[in-house]
Amino acid sequence: MDKLVNLCKRRGIIFPSSDIYGGLGSTWDYGPLGVELKRNVKEAWWREMVQRRPDVLGIDSAILMHPRTWEASGHLQSFTDPLVDCKNCKQRFRADHLESQRCPECGGELTQARQFNLMFKTFMGPVEDTASTVYLRPETAQGIFVNFSNIVDTQRVKLPFGIAQIGKSFRNEITPGNFIFRTREFEQMEMEYFIKPDPEEEAKWFEYWLEQRFGWYVKFGINSDHLRLRPHEKDELSHYSRGTTDIEFLYPFGWGELEGVAKRGSYDLDRHAEFSGKDLTYFEEETRSRFRPWVIEPAAGVDRALLAFLLDSYDEDVVENEERIVLRLDPRLAPIKAAIFPLLRKGGQPEKAQEVLAMLQKRFVVAYDQAGSIGRRYRRQDEVGTPFGITIDHQTMDDDTVTLRHRDSTIQERFPINELAAVLERRIGWSE
Ligand code: GAP
Repeated sequence: MDKLVNLCKRRGIIFPSSDIYGGLGSTWDYGPLGVELKRNVKEAWWREMVQRRPDVLGIDSAILMHPRTWEASGHLQSFTDPLVDCKNCKQRFRADHLESQRCPECGGELTQARQFNLMFKTFMGPVEDTASTVYLRPETAQGIFVNFSNIVDTQRVKLPFGIAQIGKSFRNEITPGNFIFRTREFEQMEMEYFIKPDPEEEAKWFEYWLEQRFGWYVKFGINSDHLRLRPHEKDELSHYSRGTTDIEFLYPFGWGELEGVAKRGSYDLDRHAEFSGKDLTYFEEETRSRFRPWVIEPAAGVDRALLAFLLDSYDEDVVENEERIVLRLDPRLAPIKAAIFPLLRKGGQPEKAQEVLAMLQKRFVVAYDQAGSIGRRYRRQDEVGTPFGITIDHQTMDDDTVTLRHRDSTIQERFPINELAAVLERRIGWSE
């Protein structure tokens, strides 16, 4: 993990947040390459989960929601972790993460566990009192549930159907850490899939979404041996869940949650109907009946997915007797798709390379580099995962062809410049 954290800082993928003030506990900033990578992770999810499906619609709801939302959802009462303090060194721990009854840092005596609510509070408007208290959402899901009727009334949807969104969530975690694995501000990619209220339907769609979501990680580059499914024990289920299975990833610190797939039943719609007094039912034409659908929820974290993609793509090897770091990222996720190098800084090569850059920049994120030996330039791109290197050389000036070098195999092929965009499009592979 340390090697990856260093690479991320050195190459502008992820920086500690507020670095000049010494950082702010477990908050991170995505740099120029990190933001591209993150956008691509979200794009990969959005295409697969929303745009390529006739049965799922996207929304983008507000982070600040009516405070009654959190009473109804059960988060005010139940979104808590058991907290213990060390009486000696004053450090705080999650009681359910401890292996013994003593402080893991100094061996001191611990206090009794008390429930600590994980929601961040703030105030709406100029008066800071109970009436103006609002919360930063701890999950994006509630923005979907409170919009259920808006979607049903305006979009002509038919069960089963899903509503998806990507956005920031906030949790005042007691023990954040492990780089971007557990932070207090993070991004989620969640989908609520509404189904008929029937146990067989529920079992079918639960299996379906587990399989789809597992497959998504593999499709975008995670080694399937580094993934496993772990059903939750009854006593660890969230307050809204009738059954959850985590998709876990083998992080350097051990197996940990990557995504949770939960059976939320009609818990959320029932509670919002009760608290808002609104009719949150669905009318089924065939049976001429009204009911509140049940829900299957695949809930993923953008930052955790990004961490898993980085960890599984990180590699060190030797090319032409030179050691290199290489991120073997799927080309769709790679922050930069191709880098353009004039072999020499003369003979019209830089000008030609700029022309190629201008042409490709219209469709892809591309980089230009003319500093240092060609080998060093390749290695600079390898370590940020750029899948293709395009070199303008003597021959280019004669026949308008360039070499295309592959990051993983380092094999080079020659292509006419006017075919480059189509070749890149095909090899980046968004059409798959
Ligand atoms: N709506 C259901 C829900 O929020 P969750 O299992 O608590 O379920 C879903 O969160 C996903 O969000 C997790 O699998 C993880 O990827 C991500 N996530 C949750 N808490 C996080 C944190 N503190 N830091 C980073 N990612 C987090």
